Amino acid sequence: MTPAQPLTRCYEISPHAQIDDLAARIHGLARLAFGTYPGVLSPLEAHRAWYVRRPGMDRDLSMGILCEGQLVASTFVTVAPMRLGGQEMPVGIVDTVMSHPGHRRQGLARWALSASVDEMRARGLAASLLYTVEDSMPARFYESLGYVVHMPVRYYRAPRPARPTGEAAPRRARPEESGAIMRFLNDALAEHDGYIPLDEPLWRWRHRERPAALPAATWVLEGDTGYAGCVTICRAPIVAPDGGQVACHVLTDLAVAPGADPSPTIAGLLGAVPGGCEARALSAECEGAVNGVLEGLGFAAATREVAMVLPLDGEARGALHRAPAHWYALAESVIGV
Ligand SMILES: CC(C)(COP(=O)(O)OP(=O)(O)OC[C@H]1O[C@@H](n2cnc3c(N)ncnc32)[C@H](O)[C@@H]1OP(=O)(O)O)[C@@H](O)C(=O)NCCC(=O)NCCS
Repeated sequence: MTPAQPLTRCYEISPHAQIDDLAARIHGLARLAFGTYPGVLSPLEAHRAWYVRRPGMDRDLSMGILCEGQLVASTFVTVAPMRLGGQEMPVGIVDTVMSHPGHRRQGLARWALSASVDEMRARGLAASLLYTVEDSMPARFYESLGYVVHMPVRYYRAPRPARPTGEAAPRRARPEESGAIMRFLNDALAEHDGYIPLDEPLWRWRHRERPAALPAATWVLEGDTGYAGCVTICRAPIVAPDGGQVACHVLTDLAVAPGADPSPTIAGLLGAVPGGCEARALSAECEGAVNGVLEGLGFAAATREVAMVLPLDGEARGALHRAPAHWYALAESVIGV
């Protein structure tokens, strides 16, 4: 149940749909809330303008809190079909929970997120999912709202990933291959909980509409009967532990064809990662084979994130009892790309 409005100041809550100039306001607040948050994308206005157009981003479920017209707290909710417990269900993905440093500890984040949860429940969504740093203050806050830790995810860094030798070389995917790559990914990741099946709008947003400041390229490795593997590599400025920023290559949608050997496939794909800066990748704790290959190629888990789920109906509650064999880590919700 949504807690009462804090009494100390004249705060008003409003769905994002009723907030003017949303992307610029979100960017201003994110600079303050996430500008020194290690591991996430350094706040960029072009990124926010893109992010608010994410397919499924729901401006009625996403909430903002205003104080004298200024946005001081916010939550994003994106509605997507997601696999949980092996079944696809409508899930509200929460991210970018933030409040202004001058307005903290007054219940604003709790108010905004509780209102989003109430609206998700009223909408009939099966569950809500979010990512946060394991065993952190935000994790405890989400727990207090009913979110439970479902899957730990390793946030890998490789200062200089090993350049494999002797592996088959990947090639850059051509634009006209997008349909084939979507089918490949949907098939290769079919058993992964946490996965959002790709369709044309999601592909278009991730690949063709992304900001020029965050260029991404998809690489494929050919096998005997089709693709053996695929990865997307995005160059992005990431917040460093000292609050500065570091240029990184973020690996997303790393997938190996069912039946292919992960070791040579991933090693071959990583041949596409340009040198000269750090590489980053997310991989769930349950992905033992993938994690072993990444670690063999110089990746080390810097921090641990957790995927937390709030079940909103009986089906989702049941799904949480089935430990996932595979889990897809949603980079855009953890890192922002
Ligand atoms: C996390 C954040 C959104 C909390 O915002 P807030 O408006 O201060 O949060 P609230 O006042 O609603 O507090 C919610 C709960 O969080 C916990 N909490 C918040 N700030 C805390 C702090 N500094 N120390 C300990 N607990 C804290 C408390 O449990 C609190 O509940 P309670 O006051 O009923 O005990 C805010 O600190 C922030 O924007 N941080 C930077 C961005 C970030 O980390 N976002 C989360 C990413 S997953």
